[in-house]
Amino acid sequence: MRWTFAMAAFLAMLPSVEAQPIRYLADKQLWVLESGESSYVVGVNELNRLQHVYWGKKLARNEDFAPARSARDFAFESREGMTTEEYPGWGGMRFYEPCLKVTREDGVRDLALKHVSHEIRGETLEIRLRDINDDIRVTLVYRVWPRTGIISRHAVIHNGTKQQVVVESAQSAVWYVPAGDGYRLSHLAGHWAGETQLVREEIQPGRKVIESRRGNTSHQANPWFAIDERGAADEEHGRVWFGALAWSGNWKFVVERTPYSQVRVTGGYNDFDFAYPLKPGESFSTPVFYGGFTAAGFGDASRRMHRFIRDEILPDRAAPRPRPVLYNSWEATTFDVNEAGQKALADKAAKIGVELFVMDDGWFGQRNDDHAGLGDWYVNPKKFPNGLKPLIDHVNKLGMKFGLWVEPEMVNPNSDLYRAHPDWAIHFPGRPRTEGRNQLILNMARDDVKEYIYGLLDKLLAENNIEFIKWDMNRHFTEPGWPNVPPTEQKKIWVKYVNNVYEIFDRLRGKFPRVEIESCSGGGGRVDLGILPRVHQVWTSDNTEAFDRLRIQEGFSFAYAPKVMMAWVTDVPNMNGRSTSLKYRFLAAMQGSLGIGANLNHWKEDDYKLATEMIALYKRIRGTVQHGDLYRLLSPSESDVTANQYVSEDGKQSVVFAFRHSQQYLRPAPTLYLRGLDEKALYRIQPIDDKLIGDQRTVSGSYLMNRGLNLRLGGDFDATAVVVERAE
Ligand code: DGJ
Repeated sequence: MRWTFAMAAFLAMLPSVEAQPIRYLADKQLWVLESGESSYVVGVNELNRLQHVYWGKKLARNEDFAPARSARDFAFESREGMTTEEYPGWGGMRFYEPCLKVTREDGVRDLALKHVSHEIRGETLEIRLRDINDDIRVTLVYRVWPRTGIISRHAVIHNGTKQQVVVESAQSAVWYVPAGDGYRLSHLAGHWAGETQLVREEIQPGRKVIESRRGNTSHQANPWFAIDERGAADEEHGRVWFGALAWSGNWKFVVERTPYSQVRVTGGYNDFDFAYPLKPGESFSTPVFYGGFTAAGFGDASRRMHRFIRDEILPDRAAPRPRPVLYNSWEATTFDVNEAGQKALADKAAKIGVELFVMDDGWFGQRNDDHAGLGDWYVNPKKFPNGLKPLIDHVNKLGMKFGLWVEPEMVNPNSDLYRAHPDWAIHFPGRPRTEGRNQLILNMARDDVKEYIYGLLDKLLAENNIEFIKWDMNRHFTEPGWPNVPPTEQKKIWVKYVNNVYEIFDRLRGKFPRVEIESCSGGGGRVDLGILPRVHQVWTSDNTEAFDRLRIQEGFSFAYAPKVMMAWVTDVPNMNGRSTSLKYRFLAAMQGSLGIGANLNHWKEDDYKLATEMIALYKRIRGTVQHGDLYRLLSPSESDVTANQYVSEDGKQSVVFAFRHSQQYLRPAPTLYLRGLDEKALYRIQPIDDKLIGDQRTVSGSYLMNRGLNLRLGGDFDATAVVVERAE
């Protein structure tokens, strides 16, 4: 081939070898994955096993890395058992959590995975492994996301043998932090109405299992973790390794500290009640496990996740749109919805600046309470004698979009659908069918059920100008039987159910791109990186009490972006009996995607006035809240003041929200030191009320970050906000 000037010019435009995000160092058999400011290194050791080498701050020189070498054996342990294997099969002296466990038809369960080959395609790396004897293959797929420093990993398992292989555990990845003691685990635990509570604990020898066995992601635990060196990391400083699994079904993290001070986190499908038979020639894939590293504390770890979710995950990632201000009828009306009542609420919602009006549960079938109707997705003729059109037209005329609640995966035994198809519900023949909220779960793993559900949603969206759906799921799995497939296939239900639900979301979004979706599962039971590419927001919690929300929202913010965090302003006293001011409730909800869930029929003139002002303020700052950087200034779990600051992408606007929970002895609220501003720039301070102490209104970034702001938060459940805008 002749070397031309054009070819040289073209090559000069390509990134240099050093700049490529994934490099293979052939002489050392190492792959270096660079993502943002971090490096992840994996290699093939002298036993031809894939071995984790490094995960941490970017190391610039290839020369610094040595080839992977297995650890020494040790009494009662083998070399393999002591080595940081990148994707260990279960076999040999591996007494820790394996990534893959199989049983062959002939009963052989030993699996020894050796490296075979690899391929790099831009930001993706595939490393192929194979069992030493049989054609059981695993392709490890890595991808770097350099804009945020995230790395993603998953595995594709292929049965190339002539016999059936039952996969009994399929993990997406194991993550290692550098060997050592004294690591701390952060994770999110909770329950219905108390989701995403941040839990922190030292990682002790042994195993800590965080999981869901409930069929969906769960309120009780969320598939996110972070690890730091105890005491060394805070919001602004220190090494933090973090990860989140993209799966909305049964999942499991095993956090282990081996007797030899190696901390490892294995995560993927929950292997509880798991068996995935692969016939000869079949493959299947694990969920994607995302991981990240920062040397700049938990604040930076969260901001990376937020950016990653906004820029790479959400359906509107290519052209991000602000989330609209929403009104939802649920807490105002519960099941008592009808055309006149909803129109009256819509009139009031439009007046205060709502942009999307959502009718919640109660509009279909014989749905007058939670004992009946699920499954019968026809409009209730008594409540809406002329169908939904008059209401939707009314809402649209008021300048708002219309949204509708559905719970497609469920059926009440008291429904026409159940009477026609009792076998469509998940069950074991001849065994009790445990009801949760008086409902059973349709077996979405069945393709006929999936098609039926897709068909009715397709019809609903095609026939009505619905621009938003709130997709709910109000119970967890029990008796997970799937009687119409052979017993050996039945446990696939855990995986197939979720994949079929995902498929419905994907097809609907493809056909109705105008429709936005909220993922709800009795609050925050289905919040994870598997659902987020398919939905625009999530319902954070059924607990809408503003003070309780501060902790729920704080935990949420460690893993997920404020933009997707739906937060409503509701009436008081709330479910826990507490009453806070309307302003406090607005400010709590304005830290995410703002919604109103109050009964507007009960509001007084002053409430309308305040709501109109707060919604107008929210619209002014929502770009900053939804697309900016979040700095957690003071935590509700550590201080009697909660404070959060958001800085817009262009750095021109910042907003601080501050809440006093209870005050004693007339002590002043602590000084708030702002973050993320330009030290040299001048900023105009715009308090929303008279709670800012001092008269300075134009100050430097340096002042705001070092001298800070003092707020007069005197009483219990007092709250305020301050907007700061760049002066030049
Ligand atoms: C549970 C949801 O979390 C609520 O917001 C509401 O939609 C109800 N379901 C309706 O049944």
